[in-house]
Amino acid sequence: MTDSFPSARFPATRMRRNRRTDWLRRLVRETQVTVNDLIWPVFVVDGESQRVPVESMPGVDRLSCDLIGDAVGQAWDLGIPMIAIFPYTSESLKTPDAREAVNPDNLVCRAIRAIKDSVPDIGVMCDVALDPFNSDGHDGILQDGIILNDESVEILCQQALAQAQAGCDVIAPSDMMDGRVTAIRSALDGDGLEHVAIMSYAAKYASGFYDPFRDAVGSGGALKGDKKTYQMDPGNTDEALREVALDIAEGADMVMVKPGLPYLDVVWRVKEAFGMPTFAYNVSGEYAMLRGAGEAGRLDYPKVLMETLASFKRAGADGILTYGAVDAANYLKSS
Ligand code: PBG
Repeated sequence: MTDSFPSARFPATRMRRNRRTDWLRRLVRETQVTVNDLIWPVFVVDGESQRVPVESMPGVDRLSCDLIGDAVGQAWDLGIPMIAIFPYTSESLKTPDAREAVNPDNLVCRAIRAIKDSVPDIGVMCDVALDPFNSDGHDGILQDGIILNDESVEILCQQALAQAQAGCDVIAPSDMMDGRVTAIRSALDGDGLEHVAIMSYAAKYASGFYDPFRDAVGSGGALKGDKKTYQMDPGNTDEALREVALDIAEGADMVMVKPGLPYLDVVWRVKEAFGMPTFAYNVSGEYAMLRGAGEAGRLDYPKVLMETLASFKRAGADGILTYGAVDAANYLKSS
């Protein structure tokens, strides 16, 4: 690379010259993280005046619907464009057919309405997958030890419809069933919901980094086995490109790679190959590591958070889902 650069050598060239002062470093900075890049995942819980700390994710609370408007309002005031809702469903509502997922008055739908009531202009994104509602903890329907694909897709469509009818702006299927983007798109269009976008979790890996999230939504204890028959093998990237190509062909408006930090190469390849609006999910385990090390006094949490977010931007991501979104927005505002 250096050979093709027509630049002089030392001592005429001194790379440190452009790093000399803050104004100069700002001037030559190639990649910027801004508040417009942030999507904030929030956990909701039943009841009133509930603010329940998630033990595995320091600094993250589950909020009841009466408190969610305020929290989201603060994010909006900081300039965060979109939030993503995840429900903690009580055990009594979980069944093997995950029927609560399609209830138009379930916790997710109530949270959407509460948010749209108090912060009408913020974008609202919802996960489409059965795990928070499934007594088996899986994203699809489990029968005799097998996750049924097409049967699961039918229920996922109903779940997406319920969310979109409640006011969700971006439907985000995270289930990794085959053919779900086509099916969800046509279900939405059939109901006059052409304006509702789809951000597909297109390349989602079977990862150990989701464990704190499963604690947050209460699905971890229930999970039978693992998710390796539908989530991707961490060794593969060509396969990720095929997954993304299919989701685009099926009508996805935006695509996502998940987890984030251990899969930056995938983010890069996806953005290079398709030039689509591409997002990375800086997942619960990634957050818990930084935040936990920060609380233990080993790392400067805001500093490593911002550095992490910059890595996603360098890799080509247009935006990042991160539990540190509000922390990052506050940091950007104050710096
Ligand atoms: C559910 C879902 C998961 C996450 C987002 N949606 C967990 C899983 O697939 O088991 C993980 C998010 C995180 O770890 O922050 N399908």
